[in-house]
Amino acid sequence: MNLSSTIKVSPAACRSEMILFILIFLDFDASSWTAEVPSSVSGLQGSCIVIPCSFNYPEPEKKPSKLTGTWFKNQYDYIYHPDSSNVITDYRGRTELVGDLWQKNCSLRIDRLNHSDIGPFTFRIEIEDHTKYSYINDKVSIAVSSPDPPSLSVREEVKVEEEVSASCSVFHSCPSEHPLFTWSHSGTASVHSQQLAKGHWEVTSSLNFSSTITDHNQPLICTAAYRGGKMVNSSKTLNVKCKWTTPFVLTTLFGRFTLSLLARETVNARHSIEFRGPLLNSSSIGF
Ligand SMILES: *[C@@H]1O[C@H](CO)[C@@H](O)[C@H](O)[C@H]1NC(C)=O
Ligand SMILES: *[C@@H]1O[C@H](CO)[C@@H](O)[C@H](O)[C@H]1NC(C)=O
Ligand SMILES: *[C@@H]1O[C@H](CO)[C@@H](O)[C@H](O)[C@H]1NC(C)=O
Ligand SMILES: *[C@@H]1O[C@H](CO)[C@@H](O)[C@H](O)[C@H]1NC(C)=O
Ligand SMILES: *[C@@H]1O[C@H](CO)[C@@H](O)[C@H](O)[C@H]1NC(C)=O
Repeated sequence: MNLSSTIKVSPAACRSEMILFILIFLDFDASSWTAEVPSSVSGLQGSCIVIPCSFNYPEPEKKPSKLTGTWFKNQYDYIYHPDSSNVITDYRGRTELVGDLWQKNCSLRIDRLNHSDIGPFTFRIEIEDHTKYSYINDKVSIAVSSPDPPSLSVREEVKVEEEVSASCSVFHSCPSEHPLFTWSHSGTASVHSQQLAKGHWEVTSSLNFSSTITDHNQPLICTAAYRGGKMVNSSKTLNVKCKWTTPFVLTTLFGRFTLSLLARETVNARHSIEFRGPLLNSSSIGF
């Protein structure tokens, strides 16, 4: 395309036509062969990873009837190809093109990530009746690491029968199959996931429960299981403090007594207090 031939410069109109020229040029450039992928993404061994990818090509004059997207490493070792018999054995059955090519989305998912899946990987598009192109200037590498233990936060010093809120978070790279949590303590749990950056998510499990004296000195353990089978855990030891019970009044022949008991000992104390005189009345009072 020879753009300059379409613009006839007359001195009076020179300025606006220069702007027109630049706009045409930018428009042309935006639809050329470009792919947008991170140069590196990190994934966890055994988990899956989604490589975010979008691509562009100069619009052919007529809408193509078919688009074929592939991913390869080295010189056309296909790690993804719609015909799986073209895929090298290490990757067969582990890769899927999750992006919609018609939306210019070439995102690739790799399951059961292995330490050897480092890349670099290149996307290639084949446009039927038009042309083919490998985006060799936009390769992506993968840093495969082992997952860190979850970050567990809970107020470690709690009172008996107090409502405890604990939360446990892990990072992951697999939006379709985030890690599953288990807690060592029963309670009401809820999970939410948050995208931190392209290809990186954080998933958090929150647990609410009411502490009891049997929780004292016991670890609260949160375990996250990645889909590949890898498990990580963190634990914190709960220190359950005694609490004074609501005072209650005992009225005996010898007078009225106000009693408060340490909740930790309530169960035993109830049975060990004896009164010499007849118990006339006992009732709870609140402060
Ligand atoms: C591309 O496709 C993936 C997978 O379906 C999706 O998560 C992502 O948001 C898409 N990207 C864009 C830019 O639409
Ligand atoms: C990871 O890949 C290597 C080399 O391709 C292979 O020998 C190994 O069995 C793979 N490990 C897993 C867990 O799939
Ligand atoms: C846990 O308790 C907090 C604060 O009381 C509340 O905001 C949250 O919704 C509760 N979560 C669940 C899962 O019940
Ligand atoms: C927590 O993980 C460690 C290894 O990191 C393991 O030895 C331990 O058995 C795990 N604990 C539980 C309760 O799963
Ligand atoms: C116990 O004593 C309180 C206050 O002294 C009184 O209000 C209540 O009725 C009494 N209860 C009984 C069962 O006698």
